[in-house]
Amino acid sequence: MTHQRLYINIDHVATVRQARRASYPDPVAAARLCEDAGADGITAHLREDRRHIQDADIEALAAGARTPFNLEMAATDPMTTLAVRLKPLQVTLVPERREEVTTEGGLDCLRDPQRLADVIGRLHGAGIRTSLFIDPDRAQIDASARLGVAAIELHTGTYCHHPADTGALKALQDGSAYAKSLGLAVHAGHGLTLENVGPVAAIPECEELNIGHAIVGHAIFVGLPAAVRAMREAMDRARR
Ligand code: PXP
Repeated sequence: MTHQRLYINIDHVATVRQARRASYPDPVAAARLCEDAGADGITAHLREDRRHIQDADIEALAAGARTPFNLEMAATDPMTTLAVRLKPLQVTLVPERREEVTTEGGLDCLRDPQRLADVIGRLHGAGIRTSLFIDPDRAQIDASARLGVAAIELHTGTYCHHPADTGALKALQDGSAYAKSLGLAVHAGHGLTLENVGPVAAIPECEELNIGHAIVGHAIFVGLPAAVRAMREAMDRARR
């Protein structure tokens, strides 16, 4: 099977820093370590409430990441203006509700497609590859294809948080094959761990995983390079 890219989400390095409003640990330094340990790209989510990653982090990552930088953001005017100025390689549009603990549920591409089309048009105008974080649902995949994006990121949360729900993995497998048949590149992420990554890594059409919390959590015990390598090995094992 083809190489599956591992993009490391470094948000929770910033979570530790923001817990004390300190200057450390530095997400850019963490990104460097991840890149040296084999990450294919770096992901960061600039939330509207700025609970972890700050604007200065995004500026530094856009300028300093050696691998492709994937900016996760809500489809708002101010975020789009920032992305157009900084030109990350990729933007992943995610839903945003301030009260939630993390990103719950995918973007609803059917609710206000014109607003999404406007944002995507501005991103494409700046040469930014755009991906939509959606649930593995045919109607959402169809809507994403209509919006003309290069990629979708399938939300793996239901699969990860409800391991007894066998339909959740099947939805990811079927959704990946369907999206690829429409010409969309397939990414996946949210809630993936060393224990549950295998079946998702083994989906042939899935070319990129975005993983953060589990790697940063594991890094507390083994260090960031070892945590990145462990995830890389788990993905490679599943694809062999
Ligand atoms: N992909 C998207 C679109 C996300 O919003 C997140 C969480 O910020 C992730 C991947 C990474 O999820 P996790 O931190 O659970 O690995």
